[in-house]
Amino acid sequence: MTTIAAERHIQAVAFKPMRLGHANLFVADLERSIAFYSDVAGVELVRREPGIRGGFHSNGNTHHDIGLIEVAAGVRHGKSGFQQVSSRRGSQPGLNHFGWEMRSEAELIAALGRATDAGLSIANCSNHQISHSAYMIDPDGNYHEFYADIVEKWRSIFNLEREDLVTEAWDWKRSAPGSGPNPNDPKDHRRVEGALFHPRRITHATLGTKRFEEVKSFFVDVAGLSVVAASDGIAMFRGPQSPTFDLLLVSTQHGVAQGLLGISLEVEDEADFAKSRKLAAENGAQILGTLDLPRKRNVLLSDPDGLAVEVYCRRSGAKPVLPKAVDSARNQYWIFTA
Ligand SMILES: [Fe+2]
Repeated sequence: MTTIAAERHIQAVAFKPMRLGHANLFVADLERSIAFYSDVAGVELVRREPGIRGGFHSNGNTHHDIGLIEVAAGVRHGKSGFQQVSSRRGSQPGLNHFGWEMRSEAELIAALGRATDAGLSIANCSNHQISHSAYMIDPDGNYHEFYADIVEKWRSIFNLEREDLVTEAWDWKRSAPGSGPNPNDPKDHRRVEGALFHPRRITHATLGTKRFEEVKSFFVDVAGLSVVAASDGIAMFRGPQSPTFDLLLVSTQHGVAQGLLGISLEVEDEADFAKSRKLAAENGAQILGTLDLPRKRNVLLSDPDGLAVEVYCRRSGAKPVLPKAVDSARNQYWIFTA
């Protein structure tokens, strides 16, 4: 049982990341998933890490919006024998973790101090060379990486020439906070010519949970995200750098599955998006559904493991709204109407 004093400590943890930086997925077949995220979804492959069967995709928003690690039995080792993925994880496709971008390493270290004082356990601490990270586990067992970028030019490490293992242990208690914040270059925009879609970045993810109130408390108290809107069993959260929201949490009482339900990629150019939608239909792409709403248009793709990938374009100035729960048997895509 959590005491009132302990609860108060937990409420004070609040990592307060700026935004969702990436989703990292365990995938059944790395090459198939790399081909899908590059050539269909249109997010450029920026790095391969054969030692962990990994691939990373970004169009310049940050070092990676999407990370992929192929499923395997047993431990995945990083640099110098570091246990990067334990043998208990990553044997099935699904969410590996969400990456939450902190403003600076100093803020990350301060938050880790508060988490330790509150008696929370930190699952893993890693030095990824581009960032320093700590992983926390929510009440459903989902992993959340809170990370701070530690280099100005991530492309010097994340590129297709380097394929070395980069991840090793990070001792945050002995770490001097680096020179950050290290903001991303706003002019770094890539476009995968020949891909069906041309998104700028990942904006949010959708998560199903059986323990709605407990997981919601994790996002508010431990992660320190703000609630944009919430109703019975549905909540939207954001960090201060997100223009709209970073995460939609949906209770399984509304007929959704537990775990990662989808990731959403934003296209900024409406005319370009219209062309992509037409091309996708003509090319017989695997499309689960499309929506045309006053606030946005989208296409729902299925990735090679069956994960829903929403590619969308928000109409200029339109604000997202909390989706209304409908009978999932009638319309399982209502969770993508935000
Ligand atoms: Fe990550």
